[in-house]
Amino acid sequence: MTQVTAATADHAYWKARQDSWDRQQEWYLPDREERFRVMLEMTEALTGPEPEVLDLACGTGSISGRLLARLPGARTTGADLDPALLAIARGHFADEPRARFVTVDLTDPDWPAKLLHRRYDAVLTATALHWMRTDALSRLYGQLAGVVREGGVFLNADHMPDPVTPRINEAAHAFDKARREREAAAGRQGWVEWWQEMAADPVLADVVAERYRIFGDPARGDHADGQFQSPAWHVEMLRGAGFAESRVVWSSPGDAVVLGLR
Ligand SMILES: C[S@@+](CC[C@H](N)C(=O)[O-])C[C@H]1O[C@@H](n2cnc3c(N)ncnc32)[C@H](O)[C@@H]1O
Repeated sequence: MTQVTAATADHAYWKARQDSWDRQQEWYLPDREERFRVMLEMTEALTGPEPEVLDLACGTGSISGRLLARLPGARTTGADLDPALLAIARGHFADEPRARFVTVDLTDPDWPAKLLHRRYDAVLTATALHWMRTDALSRLYGQLAGVVREGGVFLNADHMPDPVTPRINEAAHAFDKARREREAAAGRQGWVEWWQEMAADPVLADVVAERYRIFGDPARGDHADGQFQSPAWHVEMLRGAGFAESRVVWSSPGDAVVLGLR
């Protein structure tokens, strides 16, 4: 069992890990902050300035950090399965009583019972639910309708290519791939290299090994990217799950932010 705690290293150490996670994610998502801005604006517009938020599949807690900076009266529960990313989150937010973190496996049917509250004003998630297969994601949407309070919101920012525009999708994908290759040639760190650096870090080595046991080694494929759903699928699925209104509130050629109002 791994012993790393927030006190194992100082705040500058944890902040550097959080920042390098953000840079790595931005390599894939140059408009990541734009999605976060839209998600937080819609959260504030629909639930007010002091929401109780669930940062679902929070990773290192990037959404929680933006939330608390924007809305000082908000509180957040970060929930994730990855012990290494949760260690960075707990270290980075060690002096922040408004942010707490729990371990949950979203494929566990009882995951909502592990949360700190029965209901949340807002559930926010980014770049995570495409890790789930379509059938598991449908079940998760049904559970989320029970986690979001009446009048509360769910916002999912993720890869949601629309299959009815294959030539547009292909051109947008090739264009973005060329950008990533240019940036990689200039030294930009991707998913595999980032995890290799964390695995080589003596503070995190044990907890990263535990993470590899759960998800696998990123160099050999640690998650299935195989089942993407269209924005229309997400909108319909949320209505069917019990959300009163749902729609796309932001999109790019391959990604979207979908909002469900409970
Ligand atoms: C690409 S990261 C995104 C993290 C964060 N939302 C962000 O935008 O920085 C995907 C996250 O989904 C989490 N995840 C994947 N499958 C999960 C599961 N079954 N239960 C809980 N979290 C899961 C991973 O551990 C990881 O933190």
